[in-house]
Amino acid sequence: MYGLINEAVKGFVLHHHGPAVWTTIHTKAGAPESFAAMSPYDDAITYNLVGAASEELHLPMEQVLKAFGEYWVTNVAVAHYGTIMSRSGQNFVDFVRNLDHMHQRIRVTFPNYTPPSFRVCEVAPDLLQIDYYSERVGLLPLVEGILVALGRHFGEDVTVESIESQPQGLPCSRLMVRHRK
Ligand code: HEM
Repeated sequence: MYGLINEAVKGFVLHHHGPAVWTTIHTKAGAPESFAAMSPYDDAITYNLVGAASEELHLPMEQVLKAFGEYWVTNVAVAHYGTIMSRSGQNFVDFVRNLDHMHQRIRVTFPNYTPPSFRVCEVAPDLLQIDYYSERVGLLPLVEGILVALGRHFGEDVTVESIESQPQGLPCSRLMVRHRK
């Protein structure tokens, strides 16, 4: 993944736990201390960082990814990509409907990237079914964290339920996302 993702993992650890913990985590992961935001890195580096953070902080990987997703929205997306964010929707539902367009638009900046894809279906006025397609495994908790934080950003209370474990043979992960003002 592009270096800015690994830099964001670093920012997340520094923000919550400080520089000594970051040194332990990147050393344990066999990863560099810092990353060039616009260069692609092997995905293994990102997974190793999350794995090392999980060990060091005594938290399950899922919890680390979820907390990182929340950090990503507030401290990276809104803070550094505010224009893209505000052009992608003025409320939670419009925004998530536009996620694919948003990732497509920034392909100019990240020409070699493999962004995820989302299919959004409005099941009821306060309930979305979101299908998450990715070439990567294990990042569903990241999506959950991002959605909860996006809800907060747009002034909505968002709860996410994964129905991934149901034997539906889907080529994606399915989330039921309830949102209330
Ligand atoms: C303007 C803000 C955003 C930027 C600049 C951005 C950029 C990126 C970049 C560079 C990657 C790495 C992909 C690669 O290097 O191959 C990525 C991955 C990802 N993005 Fe975004 N993104 C943004 C917002 C969002 C939002 C709002 C979501 C909502 C769910 C999201 C979901 C994801 C996920 C889940 C991945 C992990 C890759 C995967 O699932 O396969 N991103 N994004």
